[in-house]
Amino acid sequence: MDKVVWNERLNIGVEIVDKAHAKLFQVVGNLIELVEEEANYQGAAKKGLAYLEDYTMKHFSEEEAYMRSIHYRGYAKHKEIHDTFRDQTLISLKKTLELSDYSRTATERFLGVLLGWLTGHIMTEDQDIIEEKSYSSSHLAFSKTETAIAIQAVSQAIKTVFGLDAELIDDHYDGRNMGMAHHCRLTYNIEGGGKVQLLLAGEKRLIRRGVGMLFGVAAMQNAAMVEEATLQILKQFLHFMNKMYDAEINYHLDKEEVLTSDEFRSDFMTRYSCSLLFETRLGYFVFCSRKWKARKKKEK
Ligand SMILES: [Fe+2]
Ligand SMILES: [Fe+2]
Repeated sequence: MDKVVWNERLNIGVEIVDKAHAKLFQVVGNLIELVEEEANYQGAAKKGLAYLEDYTMKHFSEEEAYMRSIHYRGYAKHKEIHDTFRDQTLISLKKTLELSDYSRTATERFLGVLLGWLTGHIMTEDQDIIEEKSYSSSHLAFSKTETAIAIQAVSQAIKTVFGLDAELIDDHYDGRNMGMAHHCRLTYNIEGGGKVQLLLAGEKRLIRRGVGMLFGVAAMQNAAMVEEATLQILKQFLHFMNKMYDAEINYHLDKEEVLTSDEFRSDFMTRYSCSLLFETRLGYFVFCSRKWKARKKKEK
C-alpha cells in the first residue's frame, strides 16, 4: 500500500479540525506501515489502535463543539453520524479484531475501514460544515463579469509587481494552507459610500522577489522593512482593480492590516465573494475581494 499522506486540499480552514484530520491520517498511516513491516506488530498495534480511538473521540467532540459555536444547521445529523460510527461501526470492528487476536488480516481490514471511513467523512460531511457557513453571507455577490475582470486585473498586477506570469488555478479558492506566506487585509472607503475589502496572501519567495524588485536587495534584510514593503506592494493591487473596474470611482484607504496566517484564515472564513488562487514560478498568490454598498441614511 502507498504511504498515507494528508492532502491539504481536504483542509476546511478551521485549524483545530484540520490539524486533527491530518493527525488521524498520520496515525493510521503509521499503523499501516507497522502492520505491513513488523513481524511482531501486535503489541504496538494494540497500543496504536487504542490511541487512535481516543484521538478520534477527542476530535469528534472538538468538531462538534466547533459546529455548535457557529450554530451549524446540520449539527444534529452530523453528530448522529459520529455517534453511529463510535457506538456501532467501531465496536463491531473492534470485536472482530479481538476475536482474531489482532491477526494481520483483521488488523489491516480494521485500518482499511477506518481510513476509508475517515476520508469519506472528511471529504463530504466535514466539508459541508464550512460550505453551509458561506451561504449565510449577506455580502454582495460578484457577477461573472466582475470575476473575469478581477482575474485579468490580478494577473496583470502580478506581472507588473513581481515580473512573473501567473496562472489562475482556482476561481473558488477554499482557504487551504499554502505554506510560508505574507498576508494582509486592505479596507477602502468608496467615495459616495460603501466599502471594498481586499484580502491578499503571497508566498514569501514571491513577495521577496517583489520587494527586491521595488526596493532593492537591502530592503530584504530587515523584517520590519519587508513587512512595510509587502504592504506597499500589495497596495498596488487596488490600482489595477480600480483601473479595470471603473476609473470614475475613487477609493480611499481606510485600514491596512498585516495578518498572521491564522488571522488570514479566520478572516477568509467570514466569506469573500471573489476568491482567486494564482500560481507563479515562485509560489502561490491569493486574491480575495468583497464589497458593501452604502447603507441608506435614514430620512429625518
Ligand atoms: Fe472530522
Ligand atoms: Fe465529522
